[in-house]
Amino acid sequence: MRKLVILFFVLSSFFASAQKFQNLALTPPMGWNSWNKFACNVSEKLIKEAADELVSTGMRDAGYQYVVIDDCWQVSRDSMGFIVADPVRFPSGIKALADYIHSKGLKFGIYSCAGIKTCAGRPGGRGHEFQDAYMYAKWGVDYLKYDWCNTEGQAQKESYKLMSSMLKDAGRPIVFSLCEWGGSKPWEWAGEVGHLWRTTGDIFDCFDCEKKYGTWSAWGAMKILDMQKDMRQYAGPGHWNDPDMLEVGNGGMTENENRAHFSMWCMLAAPLMAGNDLKSMSPQTRDILTNGDVIAINQDVLGVQGLKYKSEEGLETWLKPLSGGDWAVCFLNRAAEPKMIEFDWTKNIVSDTVSNRTLDALAELYKIKDLWSKNELGNTKKALKAEVKSHDVLMVRLSLIKK
Ligand code: GLA
Repeated sequence: MRKLVILFFVLSSFFASAQKFQNLALTPPMGWNSWNKFACNVSEKLIKEAADELVSTGMRDAGYQYVVIDDCWQVSRDSMGFIVADPVRFPSGIKALADYIHSKGLKFGIYSCAGIKTCAGRPGGRGHEFQDAYMYAKWGVDYLKYDWCNTEGQAQKESYKLMSSMLKDAGRPIVFSLCEWGGSKPWEWAGEVGHLWRTTGDIFDCFDCEKKYGTWSAWGAMKILDMQKDMRQYAGPGHWNDPDMLEVGNGGMTENENRAHFSMWCMLAAPLMAGNDLKSMSPQTRDILTNGDVIAINQDVLGVQGLKYKSEEGLETWLKPLSGGDWAVCFLNRAAEPKMIEFDWTKNIVSDTVSNRTLDALAELYKIKDLWSKNELGNTKKALKAEVKSHDVLMVRLSLIKK
């Protein structure tokens, strides 16, 4: 009997801790990460300022929760193998920084790598997995991005599984973000291992270009969008496809292009990690990043990744089933000239096999709201006619009118 009681407690605490981990990212994680704008130029001052700005700009209240220091915060390991933060750039230490971020009502994230060294050549996690997981838990880390550089001889699945179980053993609920760039198709195996996984190589701050770096390339927002094929069935509450962090506001795209990039990341149910300098953010960038109606599409509790329904001469039509019977629809103009759309809802009945939902304007009536202009655009009895500017979107929400 005693043995049974002990077994009961051991099993229930195991399931309780697995549950804590599983329920961490029921909608796509939102936050800010230092890499896209600042690369290795990180410091305690920069990260604290980013936290302050998230609060003062209204981004925290719009949902951006995690403040993540990417690569280059770490310099060495001590004689016992514990990771050492750069004492010059982080003079108060990582724990104090985590406390500061928590005091602002935000969560704290950090970066490491499954290999011997990180991508920027700093000490990686290999061979120190539990020690690092324990340290992160002790510091109050809430989110770990785990990269894939310098991993000769390692296999993705085993390496990420190892770190995942070490994080679970360390006991603190930590969102686990896999960053192996899609090489081993993590969408097929990482649902149980982490909460999000990169699907591609790095994003580059342009609308539709390829930036070549010798042996590898970074990709513009539209190139990355095209790579999100055949994987939407793997995304859902607690486990997301990650097309990389946002470049909104970093200067390489126009306002229209930033709006299109952000809208499409929301249609994809992608994690929304802002990557710009919040201190010098323009009002236009802030308006894009904090549009509550568009964020609501991304954060919808159904957690279905959007689908490309049509593509005609640079004009794409994307659909995303939402909770409560609603739908998001995004017309994306990738062409160099404006496009006229005339979309007859009653002639476009769409069945989505992933969500088992059908958009059927003959059977249901929806009212239509433009999520950027905030205009009401009538209902789905009438065809929608509009012009979409070059490299821009018309993004609407169809709200079911209950009969
Ligand atoms: C890789 C990742 C990036 C960033 C850098 C840091 O390239 O994909 O997102 O974390 O490493 O060195």
